[in-house]
Amino acid sequence: MSKEIVQIFDTTLRDGEQVPGCKLNTEQKLVIARRLDELGVDIIEAGFPISSPGDFKSVEEISKVVKNATVCGLTRSVKKDIDVAAEALKYAVKPRIHTGIGTSESHIRHKFNTTPEKIIERAVEAVRYAKSFVEDVEFYAEDAGRTDNEFLARVCEAVIKAGATVLNIPDTTGYCLPEEYGAKIKYLKEHVTGIDKAILSCHCHNDLGLATANSIAGAIHGARQIECTINGIGERAGNTSLEEVVMVMRQHPTLNLDTNINSKLLYSTSRLVSESMGMPVQPNKAIVGANAFAHSSGIHQDGVIKNRETYEIIDPAEVGVTESAIVLTARSGRAALAYRAKKVGYELTKLQLDKVYEEFLNFADRKKEVVDEDIHQIIEISKIGIKATA
Ligand code: KIV
Ligand code: ZN
Repeated sequence: MSKEIVQIFDTTLRDGEQVPGCKLNTEQKLVIARRLDELGVDIIEAGFPISSPGDFKSVEEISKVVKNATVCGLTRSVKKDIDVAAEALKYAVKPRIHTGIGTSESHIRHKFNTTPEKIIERAVEAVRYAKSFVEDVEFYAEDAGRTDNEFLARVCEAVIKAGATVLNIPDTTGYCLPEEYGAKIKYLKEHVTGIDKAILSCHCHNDLGLATANSIAGAIHGARQIECTINGIGERAGNTSLEEVVMVMRQHPTLNLDTNINSKLLYSTSRLVSESMGMPVQPNKAIVGANAFAHSSGIHQDGVIKNRETYEIIDPAEVGVTESAIVLTARSGRAALAYRAKKVGYELTKLQLDKVYEEFLNFADRKKEVVDEDIHQIIEISKIGIKATA
């Protein structure tokens, strides 16, 4: 049975770029947009055109260069925002306007000081107006995570009637549990008349570290678009991480879900975004962190050297990482030392290895990590009388 495709909506250049200190200029955004297109994302959210002349220009320039992906611009449910977004997107081969409004009780009461009925009216008006410029209109129900499902269903039904092609169900505050978020998507699938005319989209924030789990729960229950960012960057604790949701689907065939992403470009794309934004990737970050394929304890190293799959569920080559790393520390065993010594040109006999290992432990206790140069030195100190072949 062929797998169902979940569209990847990348918002690195919009929600991701909202992070303090991560501001990019148009040139940098163009480099990233081209790379995202090459990576195979289906939609690139290029910015929020009304927010500044710089953002407008970036959306306009990205619209000119992106060849495959849909290019999307964010708006509030405000006519002027939609006018400006439509103008910025005019060169896009596949333009999309992403408009919306807060739907939770908290947003309705405190942000808009209005009534639920008026929110529906504004939502419908915004979608109709956006529809007068482009065919592809995505509607976001901001804070849908904390919105009552019955009311959310009414909003969704109304905006589908007004022409929305995609319904974004953001867990704006990262509050939901995976079960709850999945149930919300299921509820909408089952209770919104006309739901077959629109794609449901997950947009999850990571305040409780659940963004990936929530997005996957949404996809399991019928969402066919996930909104995410490279390295999971975004407001506060960030957005759903693109590389994580892509690899979850790829590693779990029983989900019967896949994406159009070329996973071999994930690692280099992660580094490109990190360097452009000056935002380091935490070493233990899933999929793209420096330690994601590094093994340092003796037991794990021995296993990985015998067979990579003992301690790795992903072949590093699949995500563009050259190979698994065997890191030498005081916790490493003989197998790891022999493996790394061989890599730098020493084929050690068992007896030689025993001698070198003793010196190695003394050395490693004084140093956090033993590198290739140190191995040469350790072998020399061990006086076993061999020279590197390479
Ligand atoms: O988190 C959110 O609700 C958003 C919307 C503007 C789509 O980013
Ligand atoms: Zn968001």
